[in-house]
Amino acid sequence: MSNPASPPAVGVVDDRPPLTFPPGFLWGAATAAYQIEGAAAEGGRTPSIWDTFSHTPGRVVEGHTGDVACDHYHRLGPDVALMAELGLKSYRFSVSWPRVQPGGTGPANAEGLDFYRRLVDELLGHGIEPWLTLYHWDLPQPLEDVGGWPARDTAARFADYATLVADALGDRVRYWTTLNEPWCSAFLGYGSGVHAPGRSDGADAVRAGHHLMLGHGLAVQALRAARPTAEVGVTVNLYPVTPASEAPADVDAARRIDGLANRFFLDPLLRGSYPADLMADLAKVTDFGHVRDGDLATISTPLDVVGVNYYSRHVVAAPDPDAEPEPYWRAPSCWPGSEDVRFVTRGVPVTDMNWEIDAPGLVETLRRVHEEYTDLPLYVTENGSAFVDEVVDGQVDDADRLAYFDAHLRAAHEAIEAGVPLRGYFAWSLMDNFEWAWGYTKRFGMVHVDYDSQVRIPKSSARWYAEVIRRNGLAAQ
Ligand code: FCB
Repeated sequence: MSNPASPPAVGVVDDRPPLTFPPGFLWGAATAAYQIEGAAAEGGRTPSIWDTFSHTPGRVVEGHTGDVACDHYHRLGPDVALMAELGLKSYRFSVSWPRVQPGGTGPANAEGLDFYRRLVDELLGHGIEPWLTLYHWDLPQPLEDVGGWPARDTAARFADYATLVADALGDRVRYWTTLNEPWCSAFLGYGSGVHAPGRSDGADAVRAGHHLMLGHGLAVQALRAARPTAEVGVTVNLYPVTPASEAPADVDAARRIDGLANRFFLDPLLRGSYPADLMADLAKVTDFGHVRDGDLATISTPLDVVGVNYYSRHVVAAPDPDAEPEPYWRAPSCWPGSEDVRFVTRGVPVTDMNWEIDAPGLVETLRRVHEEYTDLPLYVTENGSAFVDEVVDGQVDDADRLAYFDAHLRAAHEAIEAGVPLRGYFAWSLMDNFEWAWGYTKRFGMVHVDYDSQVRIPKSSARWYAEVIRRNGLAAQ
């Protein structure tokens, strides 16, 4: 398919003037502990909810688990060397809570912390800025056994864990993210149950969302106490939500889903309140009795940066009693109280996840956060796409992924021109990895991983991205 927005093929000389990003723009790539580390039972690590979930038959496609994953735990040196070869300025990784604090309570596990010390030292040795995420979904199983995120105490446990990590790594890590995508933890983990721990109760999902944010606020305070110079933020996954038509009922459906997907988190974190319309929508699910005085002040503890993960857009329509049910709105649902809203497909190109490709949505999303919520520096902490890759003669020519990155980086640049203080971009993902409920069947990496041999092959997109980083920009259209 010819695509006028595509960049020239790799290796083809391109002399169009570059689209330049601001000086010091932080070019990175991201991963998460459970998705790449493996070594699930080594070095004192104990199970997280994702170990339990992935080992439960029927939960993950083909019964895949993160037991071995990309074996990054044993390949840290070569993996960082690869990052350096690509010229990454920063690497966003997550710390496995049950590796550094087995069971989720008590003292730190020195062996677990040593792994991250070595990783950070290796990164710094190659001039790569470490960007540490404390929680990318791997709650220690014993904390789930006593209630998980719907239980208030989990928030306090998270702050204790944050202190342990800050004490160990605060001298060498500048950028800290508390939570990755609390929407997924709360609404996929406790609402639809398609993610660990696989529970499905709307009220629990709402409680989980609140306690995740409370844990975030307490962790921000703990990080600041341990390391006053740390740059602290949170990462939310945001979607523009568009009504399928201008009909008032469709517009209202969009308002509801926007409330649950975006404003449920943005408002408490950045304004210190829950939106009134969202609370009204959720009235039949919960009375918000779990919210205590002072919680919202803790949740909105000032931040230094905000991370945005962007993948796609939601287009929604009003409930239609005659329509075929779609997977999204079959109960149990990740949209408590709004299960009957319909998610509409527009027939535009999709990725291998079936997610619509919508680069303008990134401009909209970044502008919204900046214009409606905050002047803080923003970072795209994840953006990327799954496509089916083929290894041919030891090469992977992932033109579709490369075009996705290209289009979204152009969108990021457009947002900057519109006044958004966007300071960096992290591609998801550095390498193919365990894609949660999809196991290893979906590939998001710029680097191909052969899961039998653990051989890594940088795809065309990785080579192209290295060139983007080198020139701090893109070829103009
Ligand atoms: C995000 C997750 C990340 C990865 C991408 C595809 O929701 O943060 O771990 O799975 O989606």
